[in-house]
Amino acid sequence: MKTRFIFFVILFVSATSFAQRIAILGAMTEEVELLQSQLKQAKTKEVLGFKFKTGKLNGKKVVLAETGIGKVNASIVTTLIIKHFSPKIVIFTGVAGAVNPDLNQGDILIGKRLSYHDYGRLTNDSLKFYPTRNPHTKQLNPQFFLSDSILIAVANEAAKGIELKKITSDSPQPRVSVGTIVTGDTFVASSVAVAGFSRNYQADATEMEGAVVAQICFQQNLPFLIIRSISDKANEAAPADFQTFKKVAADNSAILVKAIIKNLE
Ligand code: ADE
Repeated sequence: MKTRFIFFVILFVSATSFAQRIAILGAMTEEVELLQSQLKQAKTKEVLGFKFKTGKLNGKKVVLAETGIGKVNASIVTTLIIKHFSPKIVIFTGVAGAVNPDLNQGDILIGKRLSYHDYGRLTNDSLKFYPTRNPHTKQLNPQFFLSDSILIAVANEAAKGIELKKITSDSPQPRVSVGTIVTGDTFVASSVAVAGFSRNYQADATEMEGAVVAQICFQQNLPFLIIRSISDKANEAAPADFQTFKKVAADNSAILVKAIIKNLE
C-alpha cells in the first residue's frame, strides 16, 4: 500500500515537471484532426511550408503538426518542431499495422521500444540490422529507443479512464497494451514480413515514423512517447483494412493522447 502511494507521488511529481509545451505529431490528417478540432486559442505558424498549430488542449500548452508519411517527412517536422517550439516532451499519435496476433483493429499499443526494420546492411541473403549512430557524439545509438518510462506510466493510468471507439457495435471494447514497434519506409502488406518482424525484433506493431521521432528525441535528450492504434494486421488484407479502419484507429490513439495530456498536471 505504502509502495503504491509512493509510486503515485513520484508519478505526480514527475508528470508535473512536464507541464510545459507539449509537441504532438501525427503523420496523416486523420491522425491529428480530432486533436486539432479541440484545440483552444489556436494559432497557426508556418515553417518551410509545414503548418504548426499552437493552442491549449485540456488546458495544457501544445503544438500540433502533421508530418506527412514516412521517415524523411517525420524527421523534417520533428526537427522543426523542436527547433522552433522548444517542447519539453514529444508525443506521436497515429495508426499501425499489428505484428502481434493478439492485437486487433482499434486496440492501442503504447510503444515502449522503437527500432527501424530497414536500417542495416543488405546482402544477397539478408538484411543485417545495425543500430544507427549519433553523428555528433559518434556513439552508436541503441538498437531500440525507449519511450520515457514516466510517460508510459502516465499513459497506462490515463488509459483506465477513457472510452475507446469500437470497430463495430458488436465488437469487443478495444484494449491498451505496451510493446515494441518497428518503423520503416514501407507500408507492410506481407505475412512473411510480419513473421520476420516478430522473429527478429519481437515486434508487436509496425509503422512508418515512430523510430524517427524516437531517434531525434534520444539524440536531443527529450522525453518522448509513441502511441499507435491498430488499423490493420500488416498482412495481405492490410491495404483494404487500412482504408476501412484508419479513422477509428486514429481517433482511438488521439483519445488516449488527450487523456495523457490531461494527466500531465
Ligand atoms: N500504418 C498502418 N498500417 C501500416 C502497415 N501495414 N505498414 C506500415 N505502416 C502502417
